[in-house]
Amino acid sequence: MGKTETTLTEEEAAKFVGLKTGEFSAKATSLKIPGWKTGEFKQSVLVKYFEPTEDDGLDSHVIAVSNQKGGEGKTTISLYLAEALSENHKVLLIDWDPQANATQLFLKEDVPSVMDYLGYRGKKSKDITPAVRTIAENFDLLPSTLELANLTTPYERDDFELLNEAILPLRSRYEYIIIDCPPSLGLILENALICADYILVPIQTRAFSLQGIRDLYETFQKIQKKANQRLKLLGAVLNQYEGQKALAGLAEGVKRYFPVFETVIQRREAIPQAQAKMSFLAKIDLTTMKNFRDLASEVKNKIDVQKN
Ligand SMILES: Nc1ncnc2c1ncn2[C@@H]1O[C@H](COP(=O)(O)OP(=O)(O)O)[C@@H](O)[C@H]1O
Ligand SMILES: [Mg+2]
Repeated sequence: MGKTETTLTEEEAAKFVGLKTGEFSAKATSLKIPGWKTGEFKQSVLVKYFEPTEDDGLDSHVIAVSNQKGGEGKTTISLYLAEALSENHKVLLIDWDPQANATQLFLKEDVPSVMDYLGYRGKKSKDITPAVRTIAENFDLLPSTLELANLTTPYERDDFELLNEAILPLRSRYEYIIIDCPPSLGLILENALICADYILVPIQTRAFSLQGIRDLYETFQKIQKKANQRLKLLGAVLNQYEGQKALAGLAEGVKRYFPVFETVIQRREAIPQAQAKMSFLAKIDLTTMKNFRDLASEVKNKIDVQKN
């Protein structure tokens, strides 16, 4: 039998962690401590945030790679951005799509469902740390399974913060956490965008539509306004670029809504090849890898600028 969770008001929570209410409130908002919007804080969550060992932690940058359409390059950019960043930093890739495309590239065996760890529909949440797999040096994966698709209807307000809460014990262990988002709107995506600090939007340049860009921007605004005021737009990354269109004109259209990364991801056969061989990109083609190293440097620079 699980013991009942103690829930505290903001004032009680401030007292519990030894801060003034105002200070606590500012910290809760800036760290997005689950409960920062509702004003109800679980004691167990506060312990995770305020235990002394994590004082110097919680500094990972969480980047959601998101676009509500499929085939734009979310998984591809998540994978190789993570690979490129892991050459110099500790990285966690979260496969947050029930299709589990990224997971299947790394793991042949079945893995326990990520749903087993989340406190959804009356389940007791469990420490998610054992679910994390080390794939390569500096490169860990939180795998996905089809069961994630069951995360559909919010039953409680906390259901929007399941991922946010689940990755708490992980946040201080990585410099970058990349979330590969599903190609749909709904509770799964909202969970990703609520725990993210930044959103990066891949845009496939071949089947490009301004209406699509506008819809994307509206989604971003809605989430930022209603659910996560701290969410920052890192920018759009043009993908599968072939040089057949005037890049300037294309980028202009996107720029009306999003800042556009200077780095453009070229269309390269090495990408589907690496995926078919379940291989890291650096092992397949260094020119293509360089493209993603450039993207990684630009991501780091943009974060450094936005942080301050
Ligand atoms: N720059 C690229 N060059 C060649 N193929 C690409 C490129 N980006 C993505 N692809 C291919 O396009 C398909 C869709 O990309 P994917 O990353 O799975 O999109 P999403 O995750 O947004 O659905 C995949 O088969 C992938 O290998
Ligand atoms: Mg995908």
